This record gives sequence, C-alpha cells and structure tokens, in this order.
Amino acid sequence: MTDQRAIGVFDSGVGGLTVARALEAALPHERLIYLGDTARVPYGTKSADTVIRYSRQIARFLLAYDVKYIVVACNTASAHALDALRAELDVPLMGVIAPGARAAAERAELGAVGVIGTIGTVASRAYQRALQALRPELVVFSQACPLFVPLAEEGWGNHPVTAQVARHYLSALQRDSGVLDTLVLGCTHYPLLAEAIADAAREVFGREVDLVDSASAAADDVVRDLAERGLGADAATADGGGGGGDGGAPAQRSRFFVTDDSRFGELATRFLGRRVDGEPAEL
Ligand code: DGL
Repeated sequence: MTDQRAIGVFDSGVGGLTVARALEAALPHERLIYLGDTARVPYGTKSADTVIRYSRQIARFLLAYDVKYIVVACNTASAHALDALRAELDVPLMGVIAPGARAAAERAELGAVGVIGTIGTVASRAYQRALQALRPELVVFSQACPLFVPLAEEGWGNHPVTAQVARHYLSALQRDSGVLDTLVLGCTHYPLLAEAIADAAREVFGREVDLVDSASAAADDVVRDLAERGLGADAATADGGGGGGDGGAPAQRSRFFVTDDSRFGELATRFLGRRVDGEPAEL
C-alpha cells in the first residue's frame, strides 16, 4: 500500500527545517509541505494557550493541502499542542518529544538525563513525562536556554560568545544534576550548536555527554510509523498531487510556506542545507 500525498511539517519558524532535513534524508520519496510561522516566532516564550491556538491554525492550513500525516517539528508546539491536535484531527501526527525521549531512554546509562529547550518546553515538563513513562527510574534535569535560538539563527555555532553561553547554561544544569551522560537537544535550533554544546558539556560534566538530536529521532519514528500505517510514498508513481507535481525528486517538489519571508531564504540554507524560498501563507 502506498500513499502519494505529501507530509505536512510545521514549526514556529526556520528551526523545523532541521526536522525537514532529517525527513528528506530518511524518506527520499516523500514530498513535504512545510509551514514556518515566521511572523509569530518565537513560540518558546509564549503561553500554552497561544501555542495551541497557532498550532490549530497551521494544522488547518496543512490539511487544505490534503496532507496524509503531520509532523510537529517544533518542540514547544509538540509540548503544548500535540495532545489537543491529536484529539481534534483525523490525520496521524508525530511530535518531536516522544521520539527524542525514546532515543534518550535507550542511550542513558547513568540513570540521569538532561534536557535543554525553550522556556515553554522546559516549563511544560513534557520531556520528563515522556522519559519517565519509558523508564520510571530515570531522573530528569532540565534547563531553558533561550539565547541559543538567536545564536543559531545568527550562524554563531563556532563563536566564543556561544561557547560562553553554553558553559553558563550547562553549569546551571550541572549544579542540579551532578554527572549525567545523556543530554536531549530539545529545541529545533540546537543541532546547529551541537559542537559548542558538546564542548561545554565535556568541560562542565568532566566526561563525554551523548547529545540526543530530537530531529533525527523524530525522522526515524516517522519512517516506522508511515510504514506501519501503509502511508509511505513510492518513487515510481509519485504524482505530486496537492501541488508541485511537476517532476524532479520529491524533495525538489516539496513546498515551503512562511507567514513572513524576511530572512527565510538565507536561514533556510543554514538549517535545511539548501536554498529554498518561502512561499507566502495566510493562516
Ligand atoms: N522551534 C522552537 C522549538 O523547537 C524554537 C524557536 C521558538 O521559540 O519558537 O521549541
């Protein structure tokens, strides 16, 4: 059984392109319809009610493109809105928190896991719940790292300021947690700062710390879930329905919508690994 319809992916802005990139690598036959809510980013500092309201509007937008599946690429939206969307929509959904928690629970050997994310994600305790549902004995320590988002967008992955900020946040985490061996990058932007975070973690925790990328964990889970549901596309008959069916590899026929396009093209190159221009979206 195959399904040639596109997969919807959404985020508060450009960060979810790290998830889109992982999805394109894992599922080369699939087309994506991406929506970045660049006019209203960040979600990480907004209330749960606001993020749920925005997420509902975006899901409606994606469903108008007849998507067969929705990936909530934003950690903050996954934390606040996934349950509400699942209760209301017929389409299957995948967030990034359960996959990130699964990957961390499989890898943590010391019994303690660190989670870094936005203020909203950390306050929601969604990672704690997901991790402890899998391994009740795990102790979970969290730290909000709000400055990481603008640093990643500036492309400051190797900048000394980022190294200093990373040491600051991870020292605060370490004061609570003591030694840990696994740290979840619980925000779309953090994979772009992985080197600075790994260096700071080595210094602060005095050992190598395994960084869990929730974007690639989510892509793995989407691969599995699509196959189990018989929803995967195949290359031979991809028809490009729902727009963009003009030939080329599925990734080339994917579409990227934004609610404000001021910096999208430039940032997309960094987050997605190739240049794409955002198409305007009205929610
Ligand atoms: N996409 C958000 C997340 O993963 C980070 C940016 C924001 O705060 O909107 O939580």
